[in-house]
Amino acid sequence: MEKMWAGRFQKTLDKKADDFNSSIRFDCRMYAQDIQGSMAHAEMLAKQGILSQADVDLIIDGLAGILQDIQTGKLPFDENAEDIHMFVEAELTKRIGDAGKRLHTARSRNDQVALDIRLYLRDKAEEVIGLIENLVAVVTDKAEETADVIAPAYTHLQRAQPISFGHQLMAYSMMLLRDIGRIRDAVKRMNYSPLGSCALAGTTYPTDRAFVAEKLGFDGVTRNSIDGVSDRDFCVELTSAFSILMMHLSRFSEEIILWSSWEFKFVELDDAYTTGSSIMPQKKNSDMAELVRGKTGRVYGDLTALLTMLKGLPLAYNKDMQEDKEATFDALDTVVMCLEVFTPMIATMKVYAENTYKAAQKGFINATDLADYLAKKGMPFRSAYKTVGQIVAECIEKGCVLDDYPLTEYKKHSELFEQDLYQEIALETCVEKRNSEGGASPKSVREQIAYVRKELKKL
Ligand code: ARG
Repeated sequence: MEKMWAGRFQKTLDKKADDFNSSIRFDCRMYAQDIQGSMAHAEMLAKQGILSQADVDLIIDGLAGILQDIQTGKLPFDENAEDIHMFVEAELTKRIGDAGKRLHTARSRNDQVALDIRLYLRDKAEEVIGLIENLVAVVTDKAEETADVIAPAYTHLQRAQPISFGHQLMAYSMMLLRDIGRIRDAVKRMNYSPLGSCALAGTTYPTDRAFVAEKLGFDGVTRNSIDGVSDRDFCVELTSAFSILMMHLSRFSEEIILWSSWEFKFVELDDAYTTGSSIMPQKKNSDMAELVRGKTGRVYGDLTALLTMLKGLPLAYNKDMQEDKEATFDALDTVVMCLEVFTPMIATMKVYAENTYKAAQKGFINATDLADYLAKKGMPFRSAYKTVGQIVAECIEKGCVLDDYPLTEYKKHSELFEQDLYQEIALETCVEKRNSEGGASPKSVREQIAYVRKELKKL
């Protein structure tokens, strides 16, 4: 196929160089946005008297036909086209002749591509937000189901304090809500139309950029034509928000993998989301969670690729920027794929309350509560902390736990100890009483659930 810019050249492009240069393989997915943008541009050209209404009518009809033919599979993408923009324009000219050749008046591929990616990512970001909302709803339901399940919580992966299992799950709901906020923020800044920046310096035609922006649902136009065509911050921002989201999913995955092990057995994943081994008959592996954890690195890679691609670029457009799409689209596709598997995996996950309870019974998880018991009776917390430390050491030596250590032994450490200490350090009490705002008690978990559900409704 002859290049649109062939006039300037004596020779055709080398075949390998041509393939290397072409982006249609990956930018063809923006065909609907490219056509939508061209339609708005053409309408503006007619309104401003830059093109005749007759030409623009032909253009709009022609573009609508192309859109339909692509959607129905009647018009396959030409692998030899340079990119989706050239493909659509060439096809339009094939169909309507000279009017098609007029479409690119007062426009460049530089502002065209900048527009298309914004339109495309704006739509897709909404889709991702919808998927995260589903996940938040599922995690929150699971938290409600397990609000009364007592489990150990960890620091340094050492048993730390007893909590409601739902409390741990709600931590993820909070993270995911922030992820939605971050994506929304990125979209907010992305939602300005660069069209009309042209190659880099604007145009001498009397264009109406605001008209195009409004038609396409933007909040306004970009304010500097060089920035309009050179800015890819929105790709970086969105991929960065995706990276943080993946980091959250990865931490969650790591816990699920750990919890699914025989050593923990806090949860069991449904057969539909686990795999077996080719040699070890007993195995049930958390492959989906492992893959989500693994794919997190891939999304970080996309973010690094974008930042690195942009860091040395002089203004304005450089072909390096064509790399923005593969990286951003890969991050997007990965996030979508992960969410689509992760959400039902959580929805079908079983929580073994007896096991989380048993794990909470060992490891002196109620030692803080014993120190608090003394402190509430008047001993300064630091002294109480030290006293309990000594008692824990004795217990370890004698092979018992705080719950079955005799009162006579306690009394040797402080006269403040009474029979009621046992009630005070019972796991149920420790969890029940952690009622501070955002604390680990079932009551607090239910408050968090109500909060998250209210936030979800606002979205
Ligand atoms: N395919 C190109 C890209 O994705 C479109 C812009 C081309 N502009 C140019 N001046 N060569 O970046």
